[in-house]
Amino acid sequence: MICLIDRAPIGIPGLDEMLEGGLPVPSLILVAGDVGSGKTTFCSQFLFKGAQLGERGLCFLTLGGSPECVLKFIATYDFADSKYFGKDIVFSDLEVVLEQPTNSDEVLKIIELEMERHRPRRVVIDCLSVLLDLFSENYRRFLLRLSHLIKDYKAVALVTGDSIPERPYPVEIAQVADGIILLQNAEVNLLRRRSIEVLKMSGTAHHLGKYALDISSKGLTVYPGL
Ligand SMILES: Nc1ncnc2c1ncn2[C@@H]1O[C@H](COP(=O)(O)OP(=O)(O)O)[C@@H](O)[C@H]1O
Ligand SMILES: [Mg+2]
Repeated sequence: MICLIDRAPIGIPGLDEMLEGGLPVPSLILVAGDVGSGKTTFCSQFLFKGAQLGERGLCFLTLGGSPECVLKFIATYDFADSKYFGKDIVFSDLEVVLEQPTNSDEVLKIIELEMERHRPRRVVIDCLSVLLDLFSENYRRFLLRLSHLIKDYKAVALVTGDSIPERPYPVEIAQVADGIILLQNAEVNLLRRRSIEVLKMSGTAHHLGKYALDISSKGLTVYPGL
């Protein structure tokens, strides 16, 4: 039996072609990488592509500045059309919630309420690994419930995770993720070379291995031939 899967184009030149047109719908995708490797830019391109297609985006920010501050950085990219801010792409500031003692149940409740209010097709949690580090209790149940919530809304969620030298991606998030994309900014002969690798993408015959990546004012561009 052939079962066609809906795809959500990411809007990153070169990458959608490597993924049969985009990310499977619904799905929870982990975008992991070093600091400065392009995670936030990746998520922004995904949200703006969605807005162009009439798909509402909801972006939860954990640590890394207020929505105003993050918006100022995103606005430096050519694709960041400000007409979408606040309506087609809405931001939810979890940082203020995390300043107070809280737990995974409370945070999940807020995410549920925001999902109910905005009914997004595209969701971003940037950064999820930092959020999990703040929970003292076992957060596997949180991840499972988050994954079910995304599927209930038939949405595509990008969640970001920080790489550290001994751990290229957060394993706990990878266990619930339908896809894993790894961004790198590796040192080669005193220079830094950017790359992207699709480690996993359920239901997709994707390219394997590392491909050259560039970040310019256009955002991320992938070179599938390199
Ligand atoms: N407007 C821009 N034009 C070109 N490159 C940019 C621009 N803004 C950021 N960058 C590049 O992107 C990098 C940050 O990417 P970002 O998506 O914030 O990474 P991460 O979220 O993984 O830390 C910067 O260090 C810079 O090299
Ligand atoms: Mg970031």
